[in-house]
Order: sequence, then structure tokens, then C-alpha cells
Amino acid sequence: MGRICYVNGNFVPEQEAKVSVFDRGFLFGDGVYEVTPVIKGKLVDYPAHIERLGRSLRELKMAWPCTEAELRAMHEELVKKNNLTEGIIYMQVTRGVADRQFNFPKDVKSTLIAFTQVMTLVDNPNARTGIKVITTPDIRWGRRDIKTVMLLASVLGKQEAVDKGVTDAWMVQDGKITEGTSNNAFIVKDGKVITRPLSNDILPGCTRRALFRLAKEHGVEIVERLFTPEEAHAADEAFITSASQFVMPVTEIDGKRIGGGQPGPVSRKMRELFLDEAQKG
Ligand code: PDD
Repeated sequence: MGRICYVNGNFVPEQEAKVSVFDRGFLFGDGVYEVTPVIKGKLVDYPAHIERLGRSLRELKMAWPCTEAELRAMHEELVKKNNLTEGIIYMQVTRGVADRQFNFPKDVKSTLIAFTQVMTLVDNPNARTGIKVITTPDIRWGRRDIKTVMLLASVLGKQEAVDKGVTDAWMVQDGKITEGTSNNAFIVKDGKVITRPLSNDILPGCTRRALFRLAKEHGVEIVERLFTPEEAHAADEAFITSASQFVMPVTEIDGKRIGGGQPGPVSRKMRELFLDEAQKG
């Protein structure tokens, strides 16, 4: 603890980092966010996160809280002020502070907050063993492509996983996997990587996008199509991608061992490629 946080233009000690009880993020979940990884004190894949923030704001008709240049400077300053070498920056924009009414308030400035969190990203011990997941019904709303702070379904899914002694949950809609509670889901069969195509049903992950590029550069085939939990149970490998996990092998789904219960070669290779690039800065 003892961090320096950012709140609406000011860098303040975390005890003083506060927003109003009338903030629409707090009252309605009327806000969006981004999580950007930091390795060796450098932001990873920052432009992709800011591009997606812009998309989330546009889709929700929410105003930018500041200029893009100010946002970048704020991220870099936060890394510096907290001496962050490895971890994440969490940034949240909400529709601002106003009396409680559902429709958009007029002439209200967006709220912008950000903070750092120290995490072991590169040498994450889970990557050596892989993680276990369960499947659970996807009870989320119809615009999961927008990165909103309305994360209750993910909170419940992750808690269900923890209660069952595993790390995470893959969500299922109409008999097909959508994504993980806070990550995109992939399986590997006969050397091909399979993942759900982008639509309103899933978040367009920045790590997913980077993985597509790296796979293309290194001759790994990716097939975008729907897949079932049963197909996942019978896969050669499985993994997830996210800004805080990068490429993380999955070695058990619903109690069924995947790839003999060990991280597979494709998952390991993709993680290595991602880390190599991220560490170059
Ligand atoms: N979660 N799908 C969902 C539902 C997510 O919440 C996330 C990210 C992803 C992966 O996106 P990216 O590769 O851009 O991180 C997919 C972040 C890390 C979080 O909520 O902590």
C-alpha cells in the first residue's frame, strides 16, 4: 500500500484518492475501464488499450476526460511516482457526478481515476503448471464488447470457480464458450488454435489481438469459430489471454485434464513470443 493514485487531474496518496457518492460509476456502473500491463517500468501495448478506450467511450456516448496526450503522460507519471517495474495500471472513466437520474446528465465532466497494482506478470508461477477452470452460464448483458465496469457476472463466475477450488470460469451461451470471466478463451486441436470470433458477445482483447499478429508472424494457424465445452474437454491444449495473464495455459476444464494436465507446446510458445516482445519494450 502507500501508493500514489490519480484522481481528476491530481496525484494523491491512496488514502486521499476519493470520488463522490453521486458518481455514476458508483450508482449505475456507468463507466468504462482499461488495464494496461507494465514490464520493466514500460507500458505494454498501450496504443491498443487507448484505441479500445476510445471505442468504449464512443459506444456509450461518454466524453473523453482529457486529451490522449494527457492520458499517456498520466500513465507514465503514475509508473514513475510508484516506482512500478512490473504490474498493471487500472484506469477508469465514468460519466461523472450528478443527482441520481438514469438519463445522461447535462454539462457534467467525466471522472477519471487510475492506480497501479504490483503483480508478477513475467515469472507468474501459474504459467508453469497451468490453471484449472470450470464452465458456467454466461449471464451478462448484450454489449460485452464494451469494457464497462458492470462486472457482477464476472465477480460471481470467479467466486464460483474459487469456491470449487479452481482459478477461473469460462462462460457458456447457447452451448458455446464465450470467454473467461476476465480473459479470452482458446483451445488447440491438431496444432490449430481455435477461438470465438469477435462480436457483441465478447470483449475484443488487446492480448488476443497481439496473439493473432504473433501467430501469423510465426506460422501458427488460428481458426475463429464457436466451440462447445465438450470440444474444450477433448482439446489437445487450452489457454486464456489477458493484459494481466498474457498467455496462460489451462490444464483442466470441469475436472477433465487437458493435454495430460501439462501446459502444451503451442500455449508455451505463444506465451514466450508474447513475453519476448513485451520485454523488448
Ligand atoms: N480483463 N474478456 C474479458 C471479459 C475481460 O475482462 C478481459 C480483460 C479480456 C482480455 O482483454 P485484454 O487482453 O485486453 O486484457 C477479455 C482485464 C484484464 C480485467 O478486468 O482485469
